[in-house]
Amino acid sequence: MRVIDWILRLQEPGVRRLYERTRVAPEYMGLDELRVLAREFPVLPPDYSYEPSALARRGEERAAIVLPLVSSPGVFVEIGARDGMVLTAIAEQGHLAIAVDIEVGVIDPRARAAGVRFIQTDATRLCFPDESVDVVYSFATFEHLPDPDATFAEIARVLKKGGHAYIDFAGLGWTHRGAHMYKSVGIPFITALFTRETIDRYVTEQGLPNDFPHVNDWPVERFRVLFDRYSPTMERRFYRETKDRFRFPFLRRFMAHARRSPSFDSLLVDQVQGLFRKR
Ligand SMILES: C[S@@+](CC[C@H](N)C(=O)[O-])C[C@H]1O[C@@H](n2cnc3c(N)ncnc32)[C@H](O)[C@@H]1O
Repeated sequence: MRVIDWILRLQEPGVRRLYERTRVAPEYMGLDELRVLAREFPVLPPDYSYEPSALARRGEERAAIVLPLVSSPGVFVEIGARDGMVLTAIAEQGHLAIAVDIEVGVIDPRARAAGVRFIQTDATRLCFPDESVDVVYSFATFEHLPDPDATFAEIARVLKKGGHAYIDFAGLGWTHRGAHMYKSVGIPFITALFTRETIDRYVTEQGLPNDFPHVNDWPVERFRVLFDRYSPTMERRFYRETKDRFRFPFLRRFMAHARRSPSFDSLLVDQVQGLFRKR
């Protein structure tokens, strides 16, 4: 893997130059091309399980990232908490664990049993007093938020001075899996190649699920600007962008379509992780 990673890193400047030199395709592709490409890029088995044991394991792994941010019992808030299994592991350590989600349909009974509190609200309206929370964190959610800017403002407001925010999200809007349609269609960068109307016609004719989650179209640069703007109040303790370079052959082949993206980095940066401390 290390060798492959090294080779792909060496290829990146060349693919970037191709991106910069290529003109955007005047038209999206049609339904016939979608049918052909869907056969070439079949749906892959999910790498993210919602089985009860997987939820508990993932909850413990994620809780282990944020638990060291406090040294005594504190208040933890998770944005986009869904089943609540990360907060379950946190509540079991004696902390006040509060789940925020715009939907509350998928709460795990183990979370209720552990004492996790659930609040159904939009992340731009956190109903906590100013400077009342020790840790706000979020996994796999910032790419879905309609307003990451207003959400980050709320996080900064509710955090105590010295409190921490940990944000971890992947599958940003312009990346190969950014459309979050991979359970129905395996074609990478699908929304750069086809209009939503064409995709809808395809999934309807094939009888595939079309309940795709909302994804914002924020390219990675916009997140960078947002986090930079907050640096006077939110000190950046750690920040990592992870690029997925495995689709270089696909990008080379369909560069005129990939060129619809706002930037080359917006195609490549698949995951963002940031830890911030309120000053
Ligand atoms: C992809 S799921 C991730 C859930 C969980 N954190 C995980 O990693 O499995 C995104 C979650 O964000 C929630 N969400 C989306 N938009 C939201 C908003 N505006 N305010 C609060 N939660 C939101 C969704 O309801 C969903 O539970």
